[in-house]
Amino acid sequence: MKKNNFLILGCSPRKGGNSDYAAHRVMDLTLNKGLDPELLFLRDYKVMPCLGCHQCADAKNFSCVLDKHDQCRELLEIIDQAEMACFCSPIYFYHVPAGFKALIDRGQSFYERWMQKGITKKHKKALCVLVAGRKKGENLFKGSLLTMKYFLEPFDYDLSDLCLKGVDLKNDLKENLELQAVLSDFCEKNIPH
Ligand SMILES: Cc1cc2nc3c(=O)[nH]c(=O)nc-3n(C[C@H](O)[C@H](O)[C@H](O)COP(=O)(O)O)c2cc1C
Repeated sequence: MKKNNFLILGCSPRKGGNSDYAAHRVMDLTLNKGLDPELLFLRDYKVMPCLGCHQCADAKNFSCVLDKHDQCRELLEIIDQAEMACFCSPIYFYHVPAGFKALIDRGQSFYERWMQKGITKKHKKALCVLVAGRKKGENLFKGSLLTMKYFLEPFDYDLSDLCLKGVDLKNDLKENLELQAVLSDFCEKNIPH
């Protein structure tokens, strides 16, 4: 992997919370492996919701009518160009927060590209770290994982996930050494040197 082609995207609207903490930990662990990751936060970008107009299907370069009005294309291009990516997100009502879902829906233009042109299968690796406040719940992460898997397919990523339950207050993960060890282990197994 090229040294600086690892994207980490923090997807919470809450600054300094649990998924931000996870994103920083992933960043540190990635640096320790001699890589040079880029850490971005979705809340710093303007991303408008998909209009469902389908114009991207017929547009030059599959561009979106909203491209001139926000920064979504810039982010999607970064995801597309990266060789590996890690998405850190909270669970909101059994799914990802609205801002992240907006980015995912805007991925439709890359879905159209995939449908019409296909992709060279390199099977890039994507990771996600999802955090949820509830301590129990079989279905807490199901919807988000399904959505992320199919969002990432047109970008040629296969998804591996780490889902952490019982992480709710802003410092919960920061104060939980056991879950931090689980996160380190996950990174150790999934991020190459
Ligand atoms: C609007 C909203 C909806 C939430 N919905 C859920 C939920 O469905 N299940 C759950 O376990 N936690 C839920 N939570 C709790 C968050 O997942 C939890 O606080 C998480 O640690 C937030 O991550 P962050 O600190 O990275 O923002 C919700 C929190 C908010 C603000």
